[in-house]
Amino acid sequence: MAHGKSFFTKILILRSYLTGIEQYIIDPEREYQKICNKLNGTYIQIGANSKTYINIFDIREESQEDGNGYLASKINKLVGFFKLIFGNIDEEEKAILEEKIIELYETKKINFEDSSLYKKDEKTVNIKPVFKESKDMPTLGEFYEILGKDPKTKQMQIKLIPFVKGSLNFFNHQTNVILDNLLIVADVHDLGEENLAFGMYLFTEFFWDKIKANRRIKKAIYLDEAWRLIGVTSNKEVASFIYKIFKTIRKYGGSGVAITQDISDIFSLDGGIYGKCLLNNSNIKMFFALEEENIKILEQNITLTEKEKIEIKSLKRGEALLFANQEHVLLKIDNANFEKEMIE
Ligand SMILES: Nc1ncnc2c1ncn2[C@@H]1O[C@H](COP(=O)(O)OP(=O)(O)OP(=O)(O)O)[C@@H](O)[C@H]1O
Ligand SMILES: [Mg+2]
Repeated sequence: MAHGKSFFTKILILRSYLTGIEQYIIDPEREYQKICNKLNGTYIQIGANSKTYINIFDIREESQEDGNGYLASKINKLVGFFKLIFGNIDEEEKAILEEKIIELYETKKINFEDSSLYKKDEKTVNIKPVFKESKDMPTLGEFYEILGKDPKTKQMQIKLIPFVKGSLNFFNHQTNVILDNLLIVADVHDLGEENLAFGMYLFTEFFWDKIKANRRIKKAIYLDEAWRLIGVTSNKEVASFIYKIFKTIRKYGGSGVAITQDISDIFSLDGGIYGKCLLNNSNIKMFFALEEENIKILEQNITLTEKEKIEIKSLKRGEALLFANQEHVLLKIDNANFEKEMIE
């Protein structure tokens, strides 16, 4: 139900823009286009006719996670991505999938040695090593070929057909965009209901690397309709990646904004552990109007007084109950006329 979550987010983006914060938005509903244009942001749209590509196989200089090597970090993320496509696979299938990913990178002379991610050029010996570029990375089409060679992965290969040859073939390209703008909106609306999560994951990973690039710059990432990535239809790898981003983004001078309507959904995956983690790691939580049944679910995860329960139920559009540390405050989201004109 439309109670003003996205409207508030747009106001937040607008005001943060004025303070020079770098902002990354994943937009499943195509509703951030106007604000993006008004603020001269970069708008990337992916879908059947898109000409802008981001390659899910890219390993970037910022891609390393938790002291794992580059390839190991990438494999984790790719397994999450492929599980979104293949559905939940068992341990054996996962092991085979990893083996094939390793084989794929091997064709580009990339292996578990981090030094393999740097260009080897006689002339540049002793000069600062150069990290491999997008054009040095494998593509989904090449992965598809590898999966086809082994009967054990034939089924996986078949599931990749739309991504390689069909309507989703923008996944089968090397990255061709350089993104350097204070505001970047990734419009994944054209992917359609059933494919949204793939695009959201692609951009989440991409934006995460951008966020890690420079700790001194303030930045924020916005995930509207977040339930698509941490809800029941998602998977553990993806949910824990999102959770990790929200947990550690502060270290990189960033903030994360996750917006969701569907409370029951985010508290469903794996007994609600991801929804709970996200909620507990948020410094600021805002609740817009909720129905009785959703308040019951919320209550199991956060302490609410009787009065607050009544308040949440009777909130009007543009009103919210804000939780910041121990403070609970009722608030009304107001705007100047020119602000409304810029976002709607
Ligand atoms: N604080 C506000 N002041 C004025 N108008 C508002 C306010 N909040 C919301 N609106 C109006 O209500 C409409 C719907 O709000 P919004 O899109 O933010 O809902 P939502 O909570 O994101 O809904 P959904 O769950 O469908 O994504 C907006 O387009 C806007 O016109
Ligand atoms: Mg919305």
